[in-house]
Amino acid sequence: MIYGNLALKLEKDFNPPYNTGNEGWVYNDNVNDPRIKKWLGEVVGKEGEDLSRHDKWLCMMYPRLKLLQRLLADDGAIFISIDYYEQPFLRMVMDEIFGSQNFISEIACVNKPSGRSDDKYIATAHESIVIYKKSTEIVFDGFEPEEHITRRYTKVDKDNRLYREEDLRKRGSHDTREDRPNLFYPFFYCEKTNDLIVGENDDITPNEYIRIQPMKSNTVEGTWRWGRDTALEKKSYIHPRYMPNKGQWSVFEWQYLDERGKVKPTSVWNFKDVNSERGSEMFEKFLGFKKTDFQNPKPVGTIERILQIATDKDSIVLDSFAGSGTTAHAVLNLNKADGGNRKFILIEMMDYAEDITAERVRRVMDGYGTGKKKVDGTGGDFSFYELGEPLLLPNGNINEDVGTDKLREYIYFTETQQPLEPSRESEPYYLGTHFAKAYYFCYEKDRRTILDYELLEAAVKTRADGYMIYADTCTLSESQLEKFNITFKKIPRDITRI
Ligand SMILES: C[S@@+](CC[C@H](N)C(=O)[O-])C[C@H]1O[C@@H](n2cnc3c(N)ncnc32)[C@H](O)[C@@H]1O
Repeated sequence: MIYGNLALKLEKDFNPPYNTGNEGWVYNDNVNDPRIKKWLGEVVGKEGEDLSRHDKWLCMMYPRLKLLQRLLADDGAIFISIDYYEQPFLRMVMDEIFGSQNFISEIACVNKPSGRSDDKYIATAHESIVIYKKSTEIVFDGFEPEEHITRRYTKVDKDNRLYREEDLRKRGSHDTREDRPNLFYPFFYCEKTNDLIVGENDDITPNEYIRIQPMKSNTVEGTWRWGRDTALEKKSYIHPRYMPNKGQWSVFEWQYLDERGKVKPTSVWNFKDVNSERGSEMFEKFLGFKKTDFQNPKPVGTIERILQIATDKDSIVLDSFAGSGTTAHAVLNLNKADGGNRKFILIEMMDYAEDITAERVRRVMDGYGTGKKKVDGTGGDFSFYELGEPLLLPNGNINEDVGTDKLREYIYFTETQQPLEPSRESEPYYLGTHFAKAYYFCYEKDRRTILDYELLEAAVKTRADGYMIYADTCTLSESQLEKFNITFKKIPRDITRI
């Protein structure tokens, strides 16, 4: 069971097993792992034994994706790394669970630029990142401009700001007056007074002013990049200049690097920091783990890029296939870089959850590496939980081994998202009061409880505007329940299943 207030801004990023059939790894990249097999037997039933590999993978993923869809914030997004074995099946199951209208994009993440040499015909150089949203329109941010963009800003102004000058005349396709007549208009410039006027085509050139029009050549009329309105609005960013080589005047824009917006991510990521070698290098050379501890940890850069696009400073990031803990590493790095307060939740089923997944997070928080490879800690802390027994058995009945206290906590939390109130000797079934409604869980391990007048009198002592009472059965009529403002919930039928 997953507890916690996962309200708003929950983003998901995860990387399920790729189901390549490779069983020799530290985690089992195949649905033949005994734990998955046991689960398939219990949940999928007998058919699970004969299913093909893709079917089994889908059976494993389906309920997990269903749950993740429910947990995702309305304005959240899910990013799934996957390779071509399961990518087509994943897309289909995602369309079913999230809805094809919520598909956002699929990124080709070039994680091995030289390609996989063991591929027979085409050497695969990328894997996919499949992105869906929950429902509403979401906001995605962009990337900071790369060096190949920033190095074009070569000039420095008196305030030490980097800028470049760009001709306001449009170049490329649709750059003639004929193509875009509204982008052809004159500027008038007076050299003596340094005055620049945004003119109109019918205007006569004022005395002592030069008429500057967007000319592709002496005879071919071009267009400006901006319409007149923009030119008027952003006049302080433009200035006229004579180009001696062309024997022409034109208008130039001052473009400042610090005013440049972020770059919208494209669907191909061929950045150095998404190369899988960066993942192993970080894991082994910097963090000090052994190669055999975990094969193919994701590069932190890949997850940082996802977080840059999809999170704000307060987002909650859930990775339900945490592996070596790269997602937490990326969250902590980003928080350190921008002063954010993103939180992470990692889920891992293998024994290494403590020694590798959690240990990596500790090292990132405390600092790691030595000498030139030393990296300061990011700070922060986390709690480590092991899942207990399921509260409800596959047949829907209560798992009596769990104990009544855990059940009481669970019921009150699923109803109110609040922690259980301290128990009261006078009211053993009482759970707590929330928004003037009192909650009771009338449950006995060895006998059936009946919601009737007798139980009400004996067990319900708290005065409230309304009551929610769980019991095995109820003999009060609808009108009696209504009279006391009681909602009856039947055990175990009405216990919320997460
Ligand atoms: C492809 S790896 C993820 C690697 C991770 N992105 C990293 O950078 O280290 C998939 C992980 O999912 C875990 N896993 C598989 N089935 C799971 C399940 N049902 N619940 C939780 N974790 C599971 C595997 O043990 C493995 O660690």
